[in-house]
Amino acid sequence: MSRRVRAYLAEDDDVWFQLALLAAEYSAVNLGLGFPDFAPPDFVKEAFCKALNGGAMMHQYTRSTGQRSLVKSLAKFFSRMTGREIDPLEDVVVTVGAYHALFCAFQALVDEGDEVIIVEPFFDCYQSMAHLCGGKSVNVPLRPKAGGCANRSGDWVLDPEELESKFTSRTKAIVINNPNNPLGKVYTREELQMIADLCIKYEAICISDEVYEWLTYDGVQHVRIATLPGMWERTVTIGSAGKSFSATGWKVGWAISPGNITKLLKAVQQISISECATAAQEAVAQGFEREYEVFGTPESYFLQLPALLKNKRDKLASTLEQLGLKPILPQGGYFIIVDISCFNVELGDSGTENDPYDLRFVKWLIKEKGLSAIPVSLFYSRDHKKDFDKYIRLCFIKEDSTLEAAQDILKRFNP
Ligand SMILES: Cc1ncc(COP(=O)(O)O)c(C=O)c1O
Repeated sequence: MSRRVRAYLAEDDDVWFQLALLAAEYSAVNLGLGFPDFAPPDFVKEAFCKALNGGAMMHQYTRSTGQRSLVKSLAKFFSRMTGREIDPLEDVVVTVGAYHALFCAFQALVDEGDEVIIVEPFFDCYQSMAHLCGGKSVNVPLRPKAGGCANRSGDWVLDPEELESKFTSRTKAIVINNPNNPLGKVYTREELQMIADLCIKYEAICISDEVYEWLTYDGVQHVRIATLPGMWERTVTIGSAGKSFSATGWKVGWAISPGNITKLLKAVQQISISECATAAQEAVAQGFEREYEVFGTPESYFLQLPALLKNKRDKLASTLEQLGLKPILPQGGYFIIVDISCFNVELGDSGTENDPYDLRFVKWLIKEKGLSAIPVSLFYSRDHKKDFDKYIRLCFIKEDSTLEAAQDILKRFNP
């Protein structure tokens, strides 16, 4: 077994898998995992069916670094979004979901001994991916603003001095997730500028995971860090068709960066998977073509989805508040985190003393109440887990019936 895989297995306690098993065993209402329990919009489903019936070549290998129709539609769409001419053949690589785009970025850019700054809470694969290429993760947490009541995700901020103290001559990259999973934070232009200034000063690359880019609420604007002066040259922006079109099982993602960087990701993409599924890429291409035409109008799915989700977010938040709990209202994404410190429950044998409190709480919640959630400490490094183990994450991209079932369970609580 390779040394790095052994290290990964030694670190990883497989909590996601254990919780999924437990949720299935107890037939829990699932607000745990981050995917919709409803179908994608008709126009992309129809595009997929059309692709499947579109002739022999739709069932064969395609251009290895991305089906031409898809790289073209992505380049067209994101040229409009960024105000920059994106070259479909040079600047875009298609991957097996955003997850694989992240993998390609880490493998292509991070070398043995390089440091990668990761903002916490983080999508948990960032750290493992940095370690798998021999890199060192250097973590810096978003913290609730001092002195204020941090009941909105925007109240969680980076300390600029702390962040700068993490940059060294070994820093290769910083990874941000905007909007953030699980917190729902959407970085302001000023916050992004602060990060951009540091990237430029220390010559670091920014890997910007923007899979929830369309999902912002209350008029909050999602700013792409690649659009800030001097940042296109050093940013890899990662997106997901799964998140954009509520089709997570299709596993189509992409990375967009200048050709000299994309070339490196393409090499890893080719070494690791060679090419992605043809018909799924074609369906996503047609989805983007359609969105390009209707962008900014009420027909746009990229406007309809956040409108639908805002409603769901607000209902869930209000149930939590009625119970006297403190949800952190997300500005983006499809998760809400809630402070569980005021739940006074006897957790019994839900885990061991060494387990973070939120993990034990979630196991108890699944077993005793039939509701599944995710402990927020899973999104922190070992060093910081204990400081952030009083929150759970609930996913609200669910049918109203699922959310109502969860709300009924919550209402029967007496915190
Ligand atoms: C922040 C973040 N990045 C990347 C991914 C992976 O996206 P995909 O399903 O396109 O691989 C997820 C999935 O939950 C995510 O939350």
